[in-house]
Amino acid sequence: MSKELLQKKYDEFKTKGLALDMTRGKPCPEQLSLANGMLETVGADSFKTDSGLDCRNYGGVDGLPESKKLFSEFLEVGVDEIIIGGTSSLNMMYDTIARALLLGVLGGKPWSKVEGVKFLCPAPGYDRHFSICEHFGIEMIAIKMNSDGPDMDEVERLVAEDSTIKGIWCVPKYGNPTGITYSDEVVERFAKMKCAASDFRIFWDNAYAVHHLSDNKDKLKNILAACKDAGNEDRVYIFGSTSKVSFAGAGVGMMGASKSNVENLVKSISMQTIGPDKLNQLRHLRFFKDMAGIEAHMKRHAEIIKPKFDAVLEILESELGGKGIATWTNPNGGYFISLDVPNGCAKKVVTMAADAGVKLTAAGATFPYKKDLSDSNIRIAPTLPSLDEIKTAMEIVCTCILLADIEN
Ligand SMILES: Cc1ncc(COP(=O)(O)O)c(C=O)c1O
Repeated sequence: MSKELLQKKYDEFKTKGLALDMTRGKPCPEQLSLANGMLETVGADSFKTDSGLDCRNYGGVDGLPESKKLFSEFLEVGVDEIIIGGTSSLNMMYDTIARALLLGVLGGKPWSKVEGVKFLCPAPGYDRHFSICEHFGIEMIAIKMNSDGPDMDEVERLVAEDSTIKGIWCVPKYGNPTGITYSDEVVERFAKMKCAASDFRIFWDNAYAVHHLSDNKDKLKNILAACKDAGNEDRVYIFGSTSKVSFAGAGVGMMGASKSNVENLVKSISMQTIGPDKLNQLRHLRFFKDMAGIEAHMKRHAEIIKPKFDAVLEILESELGGKGIATWTNPNGGYFISLDVPNGCAKKVVTMAADAGVKLTAAGATFPYKKDLSDSNIRIAPTLPSLDEIKTAMEIVCTCILLADIEN
């Protein structure tokens, strides 16, 4: 299509006064409604666990034993390798960093006392991980993402030579925003690599552990087991939640780690709280019952969101396929599609789309310090808008990409 025709198409979109939001990976109302039944499971005469524990009262700082059993299967760790938290895993990540800065990990020097403390940040990645580092003044080093995980040559080189590098952020399954799952080799290299810092920690944010889009499921190698095999069992903190299983921000947050890490963390968490919301844990137990219940529930999620992912991919293919302008991921799960447009065009495309009524995640947001040096990456979050809205939004985004490419 000529520039004039594309411009005409774009101008027509602008006159429609659209207000479509594809900024954040939020579940849509239909997905949230799938778990409404949970709200009926606990009431004035049903607040005790099967073993008779009164969930209305204080206690159980690391979670109900029944929750620990269910969610240890969810995180693929042992029942003594899990802490059930409040309603958000991001909150647990923030606290874990804050605690490490103030108190150190497992008897090590507090990270705040280390001159120039740094984190590795595979990018594009989850913007809120990077915001936590920025907030606490932890220097971030961007690591290139390959199709099977972070560039491990670079990760291994850096952690081996610099003891001020204390951690790395990972979204290992159906990553935010790439949608990719780390290969077995990447997981093994993480477990085995030599770290100059004995208190180095992998922040393994398995936020999309059960979020498959179809029966074609990615399998992620168990990092804690791999770390144990390599004699580095204290190296990893695993995080997860049911935010995108039950209710976003009102689900169950959890954390898995070696027994020593868990004991050490629970001591500190006991100073912070007398116990988490066990009524919410009970609601989750009663509603899902077991892992099979969670898996069946996630199939119903997939039925709602898979057509939205398919629509994004179909429009990208029909508008941009074979033109050599853009590339995108085709994930088997998670909440995002990562789109790469010509270098120097991402900001422009996001601004043009916004002017035509489509809000996208800010260009650069998925990089440390919000700096995408090639200005090429755009995160597409298809879950929240309706199918019709997605189709319109993607038509507009593709028109913007074609125009930006010509103007570039
Ligand atoms: C990778 C990742 N981790 C964590 C979260 C937030 O999890 P929670 O609601 O459990 O705090 C999100 C939400 O988008 C996410 O994408």
